[in-house]
Amino acid sequence: MRTLAELLQNNRQWARRMTERDPGFFTSLVSQQSPRYLWIGCSDSRVPANEIVGLLPGELFVHRNVANVVVHTDLNCLSVLQYAVDALQVAHVIVCGHYGCGGVRAAYTRASFGLIDNWLRHVQDVHRIHEGRMAACEDVDAGVARLCELNVIEQVQHVCQTTIVQDAWRRGQPLTVHGWIYALEDGLLRDLGCSVAGPDEIAAAYTQAIG
Ligand code: CO
Repeated sequence: MRTLAELLQNNRQWARRMTERDPGFFTSLVSQQSPRYLWIGCSDSRVPANEIVGLLPGELFVHRNVANVVVHTDLNCLSVLQYAVDALQVAHVIVCGHYGCGGVRAAYTRASFGLIDNWLRHVQDVHRIHEGRMAACEDVDAGVARLCELNVIEQVQHVCQTTIVQDAWRRGQPLTVHGWIYALEDGLLRDLGCSVAGPDEIAAAYTQAIG
């Protein structure tokens, strides 16, 4: 199909509904966005960022990639983070993973899907760092679930260690980094208890969260 007519029709209906609810909705968004949150989540189609936290267009700045990985040299992710923190002055960065993540499962089971195997090496690194904890998991499902959690906790640390977040804290800019996980089964988010609001909290938050 060359035009994806159904999606375009959905879009027209959505825009109409939004305008009916608030006639000035789109015009007010044209000139500015002032989101308070940056979401770093998985690309998984079952985890639609705005929708699960009930936020409208303009309220959530978003970066998504497979398995919600924050790599210190990923210019794409770092650019999103830098713009969100420096220009938009978001007050919160949320790293959100999810149970049942295909990327995490592939990393755990060492399944091969091609190029993406290289990206998922970063999740295998998380597994290696927590070898002892991971070995205690009783089966594959428990292991994948635990790796989903540990991956979020590690990526929160990565966000905190970036020059972007470190510099923001140094200038006294209020900024908290959170680690959450989403369950596909019931649509609920859980806070992994690794929030960091300043450089002094990084180590303690990490130790507490990994248990
Ligand atoms: Co995923």
